[in-house]
Amino acid sequence: MYKTFFNLTRNPFELTPDPRFLFSTRRHDEALAALYYGVRRHKGFVVVTGEVGTGKTLLLRCLLQLLQQSKDVAYAYLFNSLLSPTEFLQYILADFGLPSSGKNKSEMLFDLSQFLIARGQKKLSTVLIVDEAHHLSAEILEEVRLLTNLETAEDKLLQIVLVGQPELDEKLDSTGLRQLKQRIAIRARLDPLSESEARGYIERRLRIAGADDQASTIFSPTAITAIYHHSRGFPRLINTICENALITGYAREMRSISPDVIEDVATDLCLGVVRPNAGHKTDGHSEVDIQRAINALLDLYTLHESDTNTPEVRTSERK
Ligand SMILES: Nc1ncnc2c1ncn2[C@@H]1O[C@H](COP(=O)(O)OP(=O)(O)OP(=O)(O)O)[C@@H](O)[C@H]1O
Ligand SMILES: [Mg+2]
Repeated sequence: MYKTFFNLTRNPFELTPDPRFLFSTRRHDEALAALYYGVRRHKGFVVVTGEVGTGKTLLLRCLLQLLQQSKDVAYAYLFNSLLSPTEFLQYILADFGLPSSGKNKSEMLFDLSQFLIARGQKKLSTVLIVDEAHHLSAEILEEVRLLTNLETAEDKLLQIVLVGQPELDEKLDSTGLRQLKQRIAIRARLDPLSESEARGYIERRLRIAGADDQASTIFSPTAITAIYHHSRGFPRLINTICENALITGYAREMRSISPDVIEDVATDLCLGVVRPNAGHKTDGHSEVDIQRAINALLDLYTLHESDTNTPEVRTSERK
């Protein structure tokens, strides 16, 4: 209803993670590069963590888009991590198109390893991607460790991507899982946006939704400061505040949203209780990490370019 009033062609602040809306920040670029580089270069085990609503699932969707273009990659994508070890394996087999019914765990593992070896011989990549991985039980994490053992003398046969909230870091740092931790080849983290990033983020979403020149005026500069204050830069909260502010602005017939609208919305959404940097540890990335990620990003574009130019190796196994 507010779309016509603000001259928009679609809702700018949908909560569904839609790759078309990706706003590039250094952290998001680094994490996406880490994911793609890890998978394409067969690094084995990649972990990305970030607070609630910082864009982890969105990045995975971007990764899947890139992998779908790669043609020679098959992936299993698991987003319900509350499974038993047997269900976990069943799910992976099913996603790779392998039959699992009536099979016990060792039979399933055997089939999986045969599948991986056959793909490895053809130089094809196979990836297991787990979203919400902070929910994985210690038992499943042990299964994951065993899966990381599926390798030849030269190569990892299965690339594993775990993505989850900071509790995943805590789990992986616990002494019981040190064997798994030692196998992590690349680790990246997402943070909330800075104020200037939040401004760019809002503008980009409005532009993609058709706002053109009005993208920088629908929210006044002081309204954006208020949005940042109440969201602390968490993209999902920014979306919720902005969506509600557009509805309120429309009801009040305001072409430019003022900070008092944001204050009203924040009160309605009970956002006064958001703590600054909730749940964040400030261990920071070293310069080496950052340089590595930037190199990875450059690789990503080179690989992507050559993927698009290389004749098809094999159609994606994905259905
Ligand atoms: N860099 C970004 N560019 C565009 N939109 C973003 C970005 N980061 C996050 N978002 C948006 O914020 C919302 C939350 O993102 P997402 O669902 O990916 O978060 P999450 O980290 O997976 O959260 P959770 O921990 O709850 O699973 C989505 O609407 C997503 O599109
Ligand atoms: Mg998510």
